[in-house]
Amino acid sequence: MAWKTLDDMDLNKKRVLVRVDINVPMENGVVTDATRIERIVPTVDHIQHAGGTVILMAHYGRPKGNVVPEMSLEHIAGTVAEVLGWPVVWANADYRDAVKELEGDEILLLENLRFNPGEDANDPAFAKRLASLADIYVNDAFSAAHRAHASTEAIAHLLPACAGRLMEEELRALENALETPKRPVMAVVGGAKVSTKLELLGNLVSKVDTLVIGGGMANTFLAAQGKDVGKSLCEHDLADTAREIMAKAETAGCKILLPADVVVAREFAAGADNEVVRADACPADAMILDAGPEAVAAIAAALETSQTLVWNGPLGAFEIEPFDAATNAAAAKAAALSKAGKLTSVAGGGDTVAALNKAGAAEDFSYISTAGGAFLEWLEGKDLPGVAALKG
Ligand code: 3PG
Repeated sequence: MAWKTLDDMDLNKKRVLVRVDINVPMENGVVTDATRIERIVPTVDHIQHAGGTVILMAHYGRPKGNVVPEMSLEHIAGTVAEVLGWPVVWANADYRDAVKELEGDEILLLENLRFNPGEDANDPAFAKRLASLADIYVNDAFSAAHRAHASTEAIAHLLPACAGRLMEEELRALENALETPKRPVMAVVGGAKVSTKLELLGNLVSKVDTLVIGGGMANTFLAAQGKDVGKSLCEHDLADTAREIMAKAETAGCKILLPADVVVAREFAAGADNEVVRADACPADAMILDAGPEAVAAIAAALETSQTLVWNGPLGAFEIEPFDAATNAAAAKAAALSKAGKLTSVAGGGDTVAALNKAGAAEDFSYISTAGGAFLEWLEGKDLPGVAALKG
């Protein structure tokens, strides 16, 4: 790997500034999913056991340089302490004093970095102020690495820098999936709109052997092939773009798998009356809400012959039953093959993880990324500033 890891650092008696992503969902002041905090435990434990002092820095929400009390990390400090199993002190503004006052095993958690306009602006002066708190910088926030911010980019040039355990794990999993994968490689890309995933599709067709397109996005492709999609969610203005992607795929030898049959309904509601029709036979007053059983069987067959899978986005309107059926069935198949050691499966993106959790399949996937936007940008083939900065 082109970057240093914790194993390359002498951490004993060093103050170690660790950029983490604890941008976790909260409801009424309570953390509803602590996964992102759980995933930084190995890095924190390693530094603590090696005799270093951990100073955690993170963002929460998008306060855009303003102090927004509801976005204070003070609300999360208790959960962070509980999950990490170390005493955590939350520091408001006077970071330097807070660092000096740390005792024993205490970990310092700095206030939401994005309260300072210097964070989003990648301001060298703010980065310098942060760097002055520590001897070593560790980036363990792959999910924030698509942002060129003071705590992810500028600071990496000011201190001896390395990747934390979670960052290492994420980068390895993604490299194994797309850079040096076992072939054949298959990608499942779903979600509502093609417009949000154009670059991603463009990059994937030149990297994978089979590309499954699902969700609302598939409708745009079906319409681009001249099929009537009735009242389905569809970006008709992107028909040319969809045809270009299909042509690029053909040149690259990538097989695009669109649903041969679909589940249609007259209303977008849980339990709505529905029927399975051929993909070119959507009634004019109906909308496509899921892939049909034949489409699922085709995906399952493609999974059987693949060695590697990258998954982003659901295949249908997974949030309302029964239109989660295709997503659930394909996810279950991928999970079973992964569990049997026949498939390396990597999934990421907010909706994706929610869908795989709902399907009860996430546990058996080979790797679930903690990243949303960063995972997408990585799939688009972009260099992530937070990763590039670690390379020196
Ligand atoms: C995320 O939730 O994906 C990360 O924390 C990044 O957040 P951002 O999109 O506000 O930069």
